[in-house]
Amino acid sequence: MQQREIVVSGIRSTGFLHLGNYFGAIRQYLHMQHTHVCYFFVADYHSLTTHQDPTQLRANVYRVLAEYLACGLNPDKAALYVQSDLPETAELYLLLNMLAYKGELEKVPTFKEKIRGKHEGINAGLLTYPVLMAADILIHRATKVPVGKDQEPHLEMARNLASRFNQKFGFLFPEPVAFSESGELLKVPSLDGKGKMSKSENEMATIYLADSDDLIRKKIARAKTDAGPQAPNSPKSPEIENLFLLLKLVSAPETVAYFEQAYDNCTIRYGELKQQLADDMINLVRPIRERAAELQKDIETLKKIRKTGAEKACASAQQTLQLARSMMGIRYDE
Ligand code: TRP
Repeated sequence: MQQREIVVSGIRSTGFLHLGNYFGAIRQYLHMQHTHVCYFFVADYHSLTTHQDPTQLRANVYRVLAEYLACGLNPDKAALYVQSDLPETAELYLLLNMLAYKGELEKVPTFKEKIRGKHEGINAGLLTYPVLMAADILIHRATKVPVGKDQEPHLEMARNLASRFNQKFGFLFPEPVAFSESGELLKVPSLDGKGKMSKSENEMATIYLADSDDLIRKKIARAKTDAGPQAPNSPKSPEIENLFLLLKLVSAPETVAYFEQAYDNCTIRYGELKQQLADDMINLVRPIRERAAELQKDIETLKKIRKTGAEKACASAQQTLQLARSMMGIRYDE
């Protein structure tokens, strides 16, 4: 029998999960948990690179865990854990830092973006964010990492570190790739046509899994449109393109085809499109929101799931770390 491939992915506990997290990552976790060996975690250490409020971390971590479960992740299928519950990751991070060059870390686009305009308060954790992410992945020697498009540079760094380690110390790590079932990594656009949906910025242009029905309607109603197609089969403006992209994610293919046709023959009414989009988003979000709220009332159960997940993850992590240490020469008991 062919061995099942190993999958790792995580989401930072910096705020509320949104449709970008859902479509970029979680929807794929849901399929892969049945076909792969899966490790899905809450990246609490990563959240400390930018969000350091000790009074919020616990609730944020348990909320992400509850939202994972509410979306349909099954703790009997995948290992669901919290990053800091796996100390092996932190140790591998330390070892990998010896192989990461300052120059290449400074060139990572997400780092450049985060420090843009900043002259102080740039911590080393932010610079080495991709090294920690590589440790998350390599600690399980995973090959596939389901993530959104924005994470591609981090995966490149993980591959570089893996191959550098292998060259220097012998083969240990397969090179992981960013994975998307559709073959194309996804970027879920924000509702204002500026960039992507985000956990901590641009709240009125992002649909969160915890948003009420009314709030979803309000956000969609405020989304920008244009004056409408002026001639049959015109190209779409970026704002309208985004609305269609969202429609394709949440609505039935017939619904998308109906509005495409209405656009092409200039009979489209954006009000109707928005109404439909809001209805379909609510259909997706409401059951997740309600289940997640229930789950968050029962911290004891979440705690158990977290601990069991860490135990499962620990077995694979210890094995990798032991090998990495030994291959680097940290083997003084021999
Ligand atoms: N950087 C990812 C994000 O912002 C979160 C993350 C941390 C991650 N470690 C990971 C994703 C390992 C995949 C694998 O969404």
